[in-house]
Amino acid sequence: MIKKGIILAGGYGTRLGPLTKAVNKQLLPLYDKPLIYYPLSVLMLAGISNILIITNKYEKSNFIKLLGDGSQIGIKITFLEQSRPKGLPDAFIIGKNFIGKDDVVLILGDNFFYGQGFTNRLKNALKKNNGATIFTYIVNNPSDYGILEIGKRNKIKKIIEKPFRPKSNLAITGLYFFNHKVINFAKSLKPSKRNELEIVDLLNIYLKKKLLRAEFMGRGSAWLDTGNATNLFNASQYIAAIEERQGLKIACIEEIAYQNKWISKKQILKRINFYGKCDYSDYLKKTF
Ligand code: DAU
Repeated sequence: MIKKGIILAGGYGTRLGPLTKAVNKQLLPLYDKPLIYYPLSVLMLAGISNILIITNKYEKSNFIKLLGDGSQIGIKITFLEQSRPKGLPDAFIIGKNFIGKDDVVLILGDNFFYGQGFTNRLKNALKKNNGATIFTYIVNNPSDYGILEIGKRNKIKKIIEKPFRPKSNLAITGLYFFNHKVINFAKSLKPSKRNELEIVDLLNIYLKKKLLRAEFMGRGSAWLDTGNATNLFNASQYIAAIEERQGLKIACIEEIAYQNKWISKKQILKRINFYGKCDYSDYLKKTF
């Protein structure tokens, strides 16, 4: 069972300019909480409490202001910096000491997942991982993502990054499981034409070795893009609609920590003080 997770939360978020000129993308609001709460909650729902967050150089302090060392929500957060966006596999080179000899989950700091049964699917997939695991989602704009080509009986044939003429609409989401061998595989990669290490090159190494599994997320689940202003706004509206309808919050990290028995009600009171008077702390007061 995988116990370690990495959130890659660097990048320049240029497609969100001017929003991202002074604030990192992962700290922007996705409706009522910072974007990073959502991938963080995915890891926590999977039972992962040892987390490395990779940020841009000099931006670490803003993330620490928000999340501290994680102890307030019963987890352990370590921060490391990336000097410039060198590509997703760079996470494993930066995080090599953190990973050590263990398997690891990588989630991109701007990815939003939601849906009935998602937590169980995650936990089951964690048990089945024997190399690398990816999660795919059907999209209308496959040219914007890493794409999976499959053959008979869902056999994985090919993985291509942002194909000009996509042969399927199965996007590879920003959630990946890897065994510790990923460190050496990442080190062996050469930068692509856009001068980045490519996650698809890493996945193709596992595919060649027949060690790549895919989890196909169905229509009843949500994987939303937050990459440009329209996507971010639409994702916010989606979250607002569900939260208002149910009176339950998506990605409330304190609620998840409490359900996991990582924190007590007393610690939640401290969090209410930390947040001050706001809708989020009112929710915590109401719930606990
Ligand atoms: O979201 C899923 C997609 O993510 C996959 O389908 C693609 O295969 C994968 O390459 C990636 O594509 P993007 O074009 O969306 O990646 P982007 O460069 O926008 O980076 C995604 C997040 O990772 C973003 O929050 C910034 C962060 N990042 C990215 C890079 C390249 C870093 O922190 N450091 C980096 O070096």
